[in-house]
Amino acid sequence: MPDLRVLNIEAGVEIKQKLVDLAFLRGLRLDELRLNGIAPHDLDIAPLLALGGLKRIAIHGADWSDDNLAAIAARFPAVQADLRQLRDCPADIGGGAVSNAAACARCCVCAGASFCGVPCAMPRACKSCWRGLMRGLRPLDKKTIKAYQMRKLHKEQTMTRTVYVNGEYLPETEAKVSIFDRGFLMADGVYEVTSVLGGKLIDFAGHAKRLERSLSELDMAAPVTMDELLVIHRELVKLNGIEEGMIYLQVTRGAPGDRDFAFPDPAETPSTIVLFTQNKPGLADNPVAKKGIKVIGIEDIRWGRRDIKTVQLLYPSMGKMMAKKAGCDDAWMIEDGKVTEGTSNNAYIVKGGKIITRELSNDILHGITRAAVLRFAKEAQMEVEERSFTIEEAQGADEAFVTSASTFVMPVVEIDGAAVGTGTPGPVAARLREIYLEESLKVAV
Ligand code: PDD
Repeated sequence: MPDLRVLNIEAGVEIKQKLVDLAFLRGLRLDELRLNGIAPHDLDIAPLLALGGLKRIAIHGADWSDDNLAAIAARFPAVQADLRQLRDCPADIGGGAVSNAAACARCCVCAGASFCGVPCAMPRACKSCWRGLMRGLRPLDKKTIKAYQMRKLHKEQTMTRTVYVNGEYLPETEAKVSIFDRGFLMADGVYEVTSVLGGKLIDFAGHAKRLERSLSELDMAAPVTMDELLVIHRELVKLNGIEEGMIYLQVTRGAPGDRDFAFPDPAETPSTIVLFTQNKPGLADNPVAKKGIKVIGIEDIRWGRRDIKTVQLLYPSMGKMMAKKAGCDDAWMIEDGKVTEGTSNNAYIVKGGKIITRELSNDILHGITRAAVLRFAKEAQMEVEERSFTIEEAQGADEAFVTSASTFVMPVVEIDGAAVGTGTPGPVAARLREIYLEESLKVAV
């Protein structure tokens, strides 16, 4: 029989039987016993105590009772019992090392996840969960689990993303842009957001065309051709394994090496191009679309060239914050008494079956989703009218909704506290969302 130096007992095995086996085989030379992911608070450790010759017992991810640990220490005085799990494992738990804590497979969350970068050795139960169960407490509420999952997802995304910067695909932690970049100093840049469904780009051609227009309106050079841009988008989708999500693209007037209001010579200062992915599983099946969103009306104080998709997003961000403060999801902006658009979407109402949305001009962004939705609506024999409307008219409409690359068609059910129609998502918005997703997927690239 070969000498056994290290014996690893993983979670899931019948610990008691294993220890009996060990006791039977105690003639073996065993230097180290590793017990992973076992929670033997009620374990009979007699077989373990019957083992001889151990130099080290590594207990990881278990919840050993003080009595058992004391018995092990008494039986193996020379053994260095490794009790890391009670202090280090960030899934708990124990030392309170990490606040994301309180989650484990037992409370149906982590399923073997590792917060610390080391594969989790306690896939069954974290200490706090055991404690909770033993005290008859409910382990975790849904909100805590959701918050935990979101943090985990965010961590996974940000830990592993490959991004594109000026010709290179890099881990996001290695990607750099100069502090003199004019996007950073002057908001002198434009952007696009393209959604990904089924691993394919939705309406790429529309976004590429609008990017070209934004660049040309600002007299900015395109750093790559639109064909190259498609290759980069696809490569990022592949490298980051995106099934559903978004690709953010930003082009700025580059980094001239100092701060200066005047535009630099493009021959000397190439534009900066940056792209990154945002993984959003469940984007198409967003539960918010079944509930709808609430908006408030705010004054539109943005500059006069909203048709150019610039990175000057401070006011839209402030608008979202105003909405949040009012207990709502978003804001519709109003100029001269009429709604222009949402902070990051185009706004619509439905009255008597007719879809009404503001006409295109420099006052609003020419949404790529807007163009597709209006086309599909007309193809489905729905009536469309392009004109502006007031908040009061919107409040009295049968339905309201917004469109954007990140939300597709999203029903609006409340405006400034007044329910729109029945106060639930209406049939026109629901149908348009369905058509949009179906038709866009057919031609996704
Ligand atoms: N926003 N209006 C504004 C002000 C926007 O910022 C957007 C898009 C839209 C809708 O455009 P499109 O359908 O092409 O996405 C309208 C993106 C999604 C954003 O900033 O994240």
